[in-house]
Amino acid sequence: MKLEIAAISKNEGFARSAVAAFALELNPSLTELSDIKTAVSEAVTNSVVHAYKHKDDHRRIVIECHTERMDEGGVLHIQITDFGVGILDIEKAVMPFYTTLADEERSGMGFTIMQTFMDEFSVESEGGKGTIIRMQKLITGIAAPTYTDCERDREEVNA
Ligand SMILES: Nc1ncnc2c1ncn2[C@@H]1O[C@H](COP(=O)(O)OP(=O)(O)OP(=O)(O)O)[C@@H](O)[C@H]1O
Ligand SMILES: [Mg+2]
Repeated sequence: MKLEIAAISKNEGFARSAVAAFALELNPSLTELSDIKTAVSEAVTNSVVHAYKHKDDHRRIVIECHTERMDEGGVLHIQITDFGVGILDIEKAVMPFYTTLADEERSGMGFTIMQTFMDEFSVESEGGKGTIIRMQKLITGIAAPTYTDCERDREEVNA
């Protein structure tokens, strides 16, 4: 999947729902799905809030996803790219509580959240060129019980 959206805050909800919908083919649990949505939300919000500083910037975000299937479940790969100001000191930026927008009530926890909720996480960035966030989530793929399973269990209990 490749999705190009405007880097504006009202697209954040769409972006995370689109990635969650794409992940469904791996049969994720609700917790895994919620982890993915949270991480995507943080990455997209960063591009919206930090990447584009000028009024006439061509504000855009490209989200690319692919899945690696395994016997059960698989791995979801997500790449989120912006073409904004970039991050000069990545090591500093990913530290918990580091923010350049403290006066706008940012807590500096976005990267920490992405790292915590996903299995792999990396940042590539170049000043003036933009930022690429790569993340992976391992999906266990243990199917949630279907309605039919529940019905059968109930019939067995009632028998
Ligand atoms: N896409 C980006 N482009 C430019 N700078 C970025 C980008 N993403 C993050 N940064 C820089 O890295 C810092 C840390 O990001 P992080 O998401 O951890 O915290 P935050 O966005 O400041 O606060 P929070 O996510 O808790 O609201 C930001 O303050 C910003 O300076
Ligand atoms: Mg953030």
